[in-house]
Amino acid sequence: MYEKRLDNRGFDELRPMEAETGVVPNAKGSARFRIGNTEAIAAVYGPEEVKPKHFEKFDRGIIMCKYDMLPFSVPDRAKPGFDRRDTEISQVITNALSRAIRLEEMPRSMITVRVYVTQADAGTRCASLTAASMACADAGLPMRDLVAAVAAGYIGGSVCLDLTKDEEDLHDEGATDVPIAFLPSKDEIVLLQLDGKVGHEELNEVIKMGKIGAMKIYELEKEALRRRVSNES
Ligand code: CDP
Repeated sequence: MYEKRLDNRGFDELRPMEAETGVVPNAKGSARFRIGNTEAIAAVYGPEEVKPKHFEKFDRGIIMCKYDMLPFSVPDRAKPGFDRRDTEISQVITNALSRAIRLEEMPRSMITVRVYVTQADAGTRCASLTAASMACADAGLPMRDLVAAVAAGYIGGSVCLDLTKDEEDLHDEGATDVPIAFLPSKDEIVLLQLDGKVGHEELNEVIKMGKIGAMKIYELEKEALRRRVSNES
């Protein structure tokens, strides 16, 4: 049984968070999101002409998103360049953002999103997606909603929110990690992955806890965007 969390948090408690927008002056929109020792910075460019041209869609815009973990973001030094994991995470972030951004309002154009993980302690795809969605809103892109993302999980019989890397590595306890992302106001899930094993009932509990956590992140995202608007006016 996993009865007490390694960092003494409650099972439904998120790590301390920070969110801010407008952190990259040369980008059209940008944001930074930190949750515990995981931090991501996102920058958005566009809408602009599609390059290479054959990717252009006459009735909608496209998103090109790249996720990158900086070499100093992990204790072992992440290898520079893109590996399979970076490609997979770039793809799931692209898929989720494609549901959030009204691409049909920007035909024949391209949005480029770059996300850099500066510190990694699990949950980087969720932190990256949260930062990317705030950066898209900061860029003034038409959106259906912000994306709020967090990992929940199941460790030794307990449902847990926002796992750390040490928790993900509790293999003897059968740690299961479930990254989830929502469009909260649409009640829509835009990312759901599962690493490990979990029963059907427990998975429902995990998703429920993830949703409650995501709602808190959503409030923080909105607060950061409001702060930016009030600083500008
Ligand atoms: O980061 P996320 O949980 O979305 O994805 P993951 O592939 O499950 O990675 C979990 C964690 O492993 C990362 O957040 C990092 O803390 C760590 N990791 C690492 O130390 N070195 C890597 N090359 C990749 C991941």
